[in-house]
Amino acid sequence: MRVFLLGATGTIGQAVLRALIARGHEVVALARSEASAGKIAQLGAAVVRGDIGIPDRWLPGLPDIDGAIQMACDFDSAMGETERRLLDGLLPRLAAGSRRVRFIYTGGCWLFGPTGNNVATEESALSPLPAFAWMVPHLQRVLASNEVEGIVIHPAMVYGGDGGVFRRFEQDARERRAIRVVGGEAVRWPLVHCDDLADLYVLALEHAAPRSTYLGVATEGIPVSELAQAIARRRGVAAPILEVMSEDAAARELGEWARGYACDQQLSGAKARRDLGWTPRHLDPTRDLMELCA
Ligand SMILES: NC(=O)c1ccc[n+]([C@@H]2O[C@H](COP(=O)([O-])OP(=O)(O)OC[C@H]3O[C@@H](n4cnc5c(N)ncnc54)[C@H](OP(=O)(O)O)[C@@H]3O)[C@@H](O)[C@H]2O)c1
Repeated sequence: MRVFLLGATGTIGQAVLRALIARGHEVVALARSEASAGKIAQLGAAVVRGDIGIPDRWLPGLPDIDGAIQMACDFDSAMGETERRLLDGLLPRLAAGSRRVRFIYTGGCWLFGPTGNNVATEESALSPLPAFAWMVPHLQRVLASNEVEGIVIHPAMVYGGDGGVFRRFEQDARERRAIRVVGGEAVRWPLVHCDDLADLYVLALEHAAPRSTYLGVATEGIPVSELAQAIARRRGVAAPILEVMSEDAAARELGEWARGYACDQQLSGAKARRDLGWTPRHLDPTRDLMELCA
């Protein structure tokens, strides 16, 4: 398939780009800067230069494609409006092409809100963090669309590769006396390694039924204190020094989206394993974290 990737230089996007190419797909990726274009070319994809918020500028140069994956996001407060413009331009353009396009929209675990001791599945009602509420009408639009074959993937919190959620812990351990956790030590995070998640995107692109939704979750929910303890063990410290940071402080420092770090969640990735034969290999995030901090 020829696949158009939006967000190909991100934590998830780089892994997806590699996985698509390894599977023999041809990738065309959007790049908003020279630096991003260079990275994409190095990873083996063709480049279309442009910004998701100004699709009219680059849509005319887009070749015919069989699949599109949207995972471009800059986490600022205008992102909802930016992505609306993208979908307004891109979906009709794809419908007008000569091929029926499979379109994967990237949501996220924070659209399910805190689950406490329940385990959320694809059937659970959405209860998005306010900073990501704009995603809900967009994913509904993609799923209901007759213009493309829409599929939604909600990744758990992603680690591995160049970025990911553990980087902050690692940086704290290196630069500060304490590892900062937001909201409390008992907060649980559902997790997935970027390479496993990338395999799920490829499987969904190739096999998922139109209008289906999948949770990309390898580990249902792990307390952040366990993750911090793994770093401490790695560094030979008997007890980790944890500093609990309030949600408000995280939002002030990083932006409203960072309230998600305080979201206590458990999510299940069973549907993807059952329907698509997804077999994530990274099932021990604390071990991965220790390797990352080596
Ligand atoms: N990472 C996670 O733990 C996680 C978990 C659940 C859901 N998600 C969702 O998955 C998506 C991707 O997350 P990520 O962590 O991979 O993000 P990321 O590492 O920040 O990457 C964002 C990507 O979007 C591109 N981008 C941003 N604004 C753009 C614009 N205006 N025009 C063109 N490209 C633009 C960036 O390109 P540049 O190279 O130009 O910066 C980069 O390739 C987001 O919607 C996020 O909410 C992420």
